[in-house]
Amino acid sequence: MTGQNTLVFATNNAHKLSEIRRIAGDSIRILSLADIGCSDDIPETGATLEENSMIKARWVKDRYGYDCFADDTGLEVDALGGEPGVRSARYATDGHDSAANTALLLKNLSGVSHRKARFRTVITLIEGDTANIFTGEVEGEITSKPAGCGGFGYDPVFRPEGWNKTFAEATAEEKNAISHRGRAVAALIEYINRH
Ligand code: IMP
Repeated sequence: MTGQNTLVFATNNAHKLSEIRRIAGDSIRILSLADIGCSDDIPETGATLEENSMIKARWVKDRYGYDCFADDTGLEVDALGGEPGVRSARYATDGHDSAANTALLLKNLSGVSHRKARFRTVITLIEGDTANIFTGEVEGEITSKPAGCGGFGYDPVFRPEGWNKTFAEATAEEKNAISHRGRAVAALIEYINRH
């Protein structure tokens, strides 16, 4: 059974796990899907980030019995009506092909001068019968060409507001301090530590 301070994070992404374990410190024991013997391909069939994070957290709670949280992130570009949004991972292809996704984004924005965008992360936490949602956002712009080789996904073409470089040109610490996921995770940890 789950201990009082044990939570499953519905991911096997090693980068996300180490990031959240570092932020959470010793107060909470965070297990991955692999840690609980879950190798399910959890469907992400929701129409919104909120729905997808809920589907993933609910999947673990219902089938494995653990209190759990799950995240979903999207890049919302104003000039594209909020696209790629919930389809960010599969924008260009069915696979998570970051280079193809980024190339398609730049193609769809060619000739467009209004390039405002934001990353938005939604985390759903399910404890017992209660679900809570935490969000984090970072505003910025889509650059005209990729720059930098750090980070992942759309980082080379996303320049946060007030910065003169992209997320891919920043250190992990610089990015985590203001990022969508960093902010959503901080809200989650603050809530957990308060309860
Ligand atoms: P996920 O929900 O965290 O798996 O994110 C969905 C997709 O959004 C990923 O496949 C990436 O393409 C993109 N994405 C999420 N977080 C970031 C980020 O911090 N930088 C750049 N792209 C991201």
